[in-house]
Amino acid sequence: MQVHIVEVGPRDGLQNEKEIVPTDVKIELIQKLTAAGLKRIEATSFVNPKWIPQLADAAEVLNGLSAQPGVTYSALVPNLRGLERARETGLKEVAVFMSASESHNQKNINKTIDETFPVLEEVVREARSLGMRVRGYVSTVFGCPYEGEVPLDKSRRVTDALLKMGVYEVSIGDTIGVATPRQVHETFAALVKDVTTERLAGHFHDTRGTGLANVAAALQEGIRTFDSSIGGLGGCPYAPGAAGNISTEDLVYMLSGMGLETGVDLDGLTEAGAYIQHQLGRELPSKVLKAQLAGKCPN
Ligand code: HMG
Ligand code: MG
Repeated sequence: MQVHIVEVGPRDGLQNEKEIVPTDVKIELIQKLTAAGLKRIEATSFVNPKWIPQLADAAEVLNGLSAQPGVTYSALVPNLRGLERARETGLKEVAVFMSASESHNQKNINKTIDETFPVLEEVVREARSLGMRVRGYVSTVFGCPYEGEVPLDKSRRVTDALLKMGVYEVSIGDTIGVATPRQVHETFAALVKDVTTERLAGHFHDTRGTGLANVAAALQEGIRTFDSSIGGLGGCPYAPGAAGNISTEDLVYMLSGMGLETGVDLDGLTEAGAYIQHQLGRELPSKVLKAQLAGKCPN
């Protein structure tokens, strides 16, 4: 059985790095991720560069990549201004994002949830009329850094709204890494009552070490698409204390051990992980990367 991986390290990972990573390093990282067999790579974001200076070079990064057969590069866009910048690079896919909880939405994109709907509706409509595919994210589904527990109804409302706008898939986010497998079972079991599993993805952060266990729980609920980040890079600039996404190396290792196909080569990922770890000058959280580099991993 095939499981799809959306590599978000160059965006969700790097957006959290304080020191600006040179554009050519970002491009080389994405090329290495592509060479490892990843087919969906979120390369950057066209948000307000004053909010996320690390990704101010979004256009340069995308313009530095050449089209590869079967590979989709995408970027986050928060509004029409972001979409216009993305369009100028010839991008074929963008992602819109909002939160299930009011305070995280406000801190992250400076709007209430109800103010956000018409903005994203316009972005999705315009992007689709330009022939782009649009993915959606719902953040803070499993907990909010400001409000704590988030009632499932709020996540359902935002998920439904994004799907109605015309996004092809919604990534269900544990932005601050608080979810446990039981909650993942309950959440996806509730969501798939209204939505087919093919239109949902799991986006787990590993802040409390439950990331891969949450993937296993979501797999049991029929979810077949997961976001992950090379080396376990990342966090969320508007979610204090959030650690990185689950690492792509750890995810691929676990899935292939479960007999699931990802089409991704672990040695290629190790090369990409070692590269960005060296460039950032610190050890990244991925356990499989560590084991691979220590030569202890049998694969
Ligand atoms: P705002 O300041 O309220 O925007 O930001 P505004 O509409 O009032 O405009 C203010 C100025 O910004 C204007 O310029 C605009 O042109 C400019 P001025 O007239 O003052 O010279 N501007 C832009 N410039 C370039 N690109 C743009 C853009 N938009 C406005 N796109 C905004 C509102 C949404 C833009 C801002 O809040 C923002 O950029 N937020 C993004 C924050 C972010 O990137 N957070 C991290 C990503 S989300 C995440 O990590 C979660 C996720 O991984 C899932 C999970 O983990 O659960 C997806
Ligand atoms: Mg995230």
